[in-house]
Parts: sequence; structure tokens; C-alpha cells
Amino acid sequence: MTLLRPVLRKLRGMPASDGAGVKLRRVIGTPQLPDLDPFLMLDEFGTDRPEDYLAGFPSHPHRGFETVTYMLDGRMRHKDNRGNEGVLVPGAVQWMTAGRGIVHSEMPEQEEGRMRGFQLWVNLPAAEKMTAPRYQEYGPDRFPEVDVAPGVRAKLIAGRLGDREGAIRQPATDPNYFDLGLDEGAVFTHALPAGHSAFAYVYEGAVAVGEGADAVSVSAGELAVLGPGDAVRLTGRAAGTRLILVAGRPLREPVARYGPFVMNTQAELRQAFEDFQAGRF
Ligand code: FE2
Repeated sequence: MTLLRPVLRKLRGMPASDGAGVKLRRVIGTPQLPDLDPFLMLDEFGTDRPEDYLAGFPSHPHRGFETVTYMLDGRMRHKDNRGNEGVLVPGAVQWMTAGRGIVHSEMPEQEEGRMRGFQLWVNLPAAEKMTAPRYQEYGPDRFPEVDVAPGVRAKLIAGRLGDREGAIRQPATDPNYFDLGLDEGAVFTHALPAGHSAFAYVYEGAVAVGEGADAVSVSAGELAVLGPGDAVRLTGRAAGTRLILVAGRPLREPVARYGPFVMNTQAELRQAFEDFQAGRF
């Protein structure tokens, strides 16, 4: 018998401002949900108002984890202190392993129009926090949309779906990251790896999570934290429903975080500050 993952908690993101004043919605990494091991933060940025995003994210450091940017609309230019530079276009994903340290900027490559997407922070285990920085960055052609069930389309960013596998690889947390589109009444059932932390964040329309009388409705702007089980079952409750479904292996290690540094101990945090200030990133 299949045990469907239940909704443990349902919550809304909180309006927040980051970078040089970019308006966004923080969904994970708030007082109500500080983290969901191994996920440290989830921001949704989505606006048609240039004044909400023009300030961008000027030069700032990261150490000890990974930042994952998934663009839906708009263009974002990134540059780092190692000479890497590129523009993220709609449908592109940048999975950046900051490791022992990177200093970068993320600035809008547009002055008008819609900017929309997600940034997810994924923790690294102690043994890999000081690894060499690296990028897995691919354009939309590497994330084709596939029909996975009647009325269900999936963009596979990381993890397995049937006989397909997403372009992103990260053995440490074995992430699954799917962007799903569901018609009203369409059903998606999928066995996420057992033991992984998992969440669904709906950004358009609504879904029912679960089955029958136990199903919980989750609508746009709401995050569902999923409990243990063999599979997740989602049913579209509105036309044109869109959501991200994300899962990862929990690290179960102490988290010491301050701003853009995420380590295991306070001493390592202090070292991160010292190294950054001394220009050792
Ligand atoms: Fe950043």
C-alpha cells in the first residue's frame, strides 16, 4: 500500500527586501520556518514594477552552501570575483556551489517588464563547505517541458522522473526540483526519495495535496511542507496551476548562519568574516 506524503504545515511567504532593496516574498528562512533541512531559504521574486527589482543584488559574498536561481521571466546578469559572468534568461537555472567562498553580483538586465523566479539556498555538508566554488548553469534548452501524465507538464531541473534525469547533479543532498503545470482535475503522482525533506510551493492556481477526505488545498502563494511517505499526489484545482516541487536529503548537522555565510559552528562563521574581510574569497 502506498502511503501518500501528508501536508505537515501550510504557510504563506512574508514580504521581504534583500540586496539593494529588491522586493520579494520569503517563503523559507523566516521566523515561522527558519529552514527545512537541507533547504535554508526560498525567495520568490515576481513583479511587473521595475522599482521593485532595479536595485538588484550588488556585490556580496557567500560561503558554505549553494544558491539556486531559477528564472521564469526577465533577465539577470551575474558576475563574480573569479571572472565568471553570464545572463540568466527565462527558463534558465544557475546552481552555484559557493563552497569556500565567492563574491558575486546579480543585477537585472532590463529596465522594464516582468521579473519573476525563485532563489533557493541549499546547505552543504560539513565535509564540503570549503570545497572549490563551481557552477552548474544551463539555458532553457537543457530543461525541456515533458508531458508526464494527462494534463501534467513538468520541467525537470534536478532528480529523476520516470526514465528522465534533470541536468543538475548534487550527490550531497540528492535534490529533486520539478516545475509542474497542471490542468484543472489533472493528477500527478510521484515517488520522491524516502527520507528526503520535501515541499511544494504553488505560484499560480491551486492544488489538492493528498487524496480524498485527507487532501489539503494549497493555493498560489502558499507553501506545503510535506511529511514522510512513499509518494506525493497532486491534483490541479484550477486551470493553469503552476508549482515547484522540491525535495532533498537532510544533512542533520548543526547550522550556524549569519547573512550570506552558513557554517556548522560560530568559530567557522567568525573565520568566514575574517577571510572575506581579508580578501581571501
Ligand atoms: Fe548571491
